Amino acid sequence: MTHANGALGATPVRPSLLEVRDVTVAYRVPGGGANVALSGVALAVHEGEWLAVIGHNGSGKSTLAKLMNGLLIPGRGDVIVAGMNTRETALHRAIRQTVGVVFQDPEDQIVATLVEEDVAFGPENLGLARDEVRALVQSALDAIDAQDLRLRAPHQLSGGQKQRVAIAGVLAMRPRCIVLDESTAMLDPEGRREVLDVVARLHRAGTTIVAVTHFMSEAALADRIVVLSEGRIALEGVPREIFGDRERLRALDLDVPPVAQVAERARALGVGVRGLPLTVGEFVTALP
Ligand SMILES: Nc1ncnc2c1ncn2[C@@H]1O[C@H](COP(=O)(O)OP(=O)(O)OP(=O)(O)O)[C@@H](O)[C@H]1O
Ligand SMILES: [Mg+2]
Repeated sequence: MTHANGALGATPVRPSLLEVRDVTVAYRVPGGGANVALSGVALAVHEGEWLAVIGHNGSGKSTLAKLMNGLLIPGRGDVIVAGMNTRETALHRAIRQTVGVVFQDPEDQIVATLVEEDVAFGPENLGLARDEVRALVQSALDAIDAQDLRLRAPHQLSGGQKQRVAIAGVLAMRPRCIVLDESTAMLDPEGRREVLDVVARLHRAGTTIVAVTHFMSEAALADRIVVLSEGRIALEGVPREIFGDRERLRALDLDVPPVAQVAERARALGVGVRGLPLTVGEFVTALP
């Protein structure tokens, strides 16, 4: 006999922080008609997980990201953030404190002339006391390992530093979830590494991460991957499942991470690489 909430002794189901329930989004286009960006998408994001969202251009990734903190309200279906429906305008403030979004271009996210003022912008707008704001800024800068940037001008920083400051601005609101929409796309390899290090650290500390990316090497770091295609979820699973299905990936115009491609080439040349290495570390241990 099982109870409605699961059998005794069963593995506890991780609670969902975010639920996208059968959502359809259509953008109106000039001259009439509509552009359907998402149709019938259902997805739960679990507390503490790192979810990667991949898919070719125009597949609906940014639309999905914008739904997650109420920047966009679905035409049909609902998005529930920690029990709050994004349709309820009165909850928008609480929703945006729960889920913070970091976008692609760090320049678009800079609002002040000093890093510490920039990071303080969110909490100041909440009307918090000076001391509280100072403490939040301090811990956000600690989280991105950037106390040394506190008094710098954001415009003079490198791309990676700017994007870390944008993340600190979001962290200062103490969100439970951070959504990154191609936040490493405009950065050089060094900047990408800086940002990924911060994301991995936040994930280890328990923050829920939703990362839209077109870098398969980044998606390979996630706990789970969702593949969008023409506004629908085409595939969903752990990285090993997703990247193990080459045919499906190819049909979706996607590839395996570069490391896995190298492993495949090496195997073709007679090097006995074992399994499906998805990261450099895995490749090293997969060598004969
Ligand atoms: N404001 C808008 N008005 C009209 N159509 C839009 C708008 N924003 C997005 N679209 C369309 O909706 C679809 C999904 O767009 P979306 O930006 O969510 O895709 P994406 O996967 O993020 O793409 P990319 O890889 O280029 O960032 C596309 O066909 C796009 O052209
Ligand atoms: Mg996009």
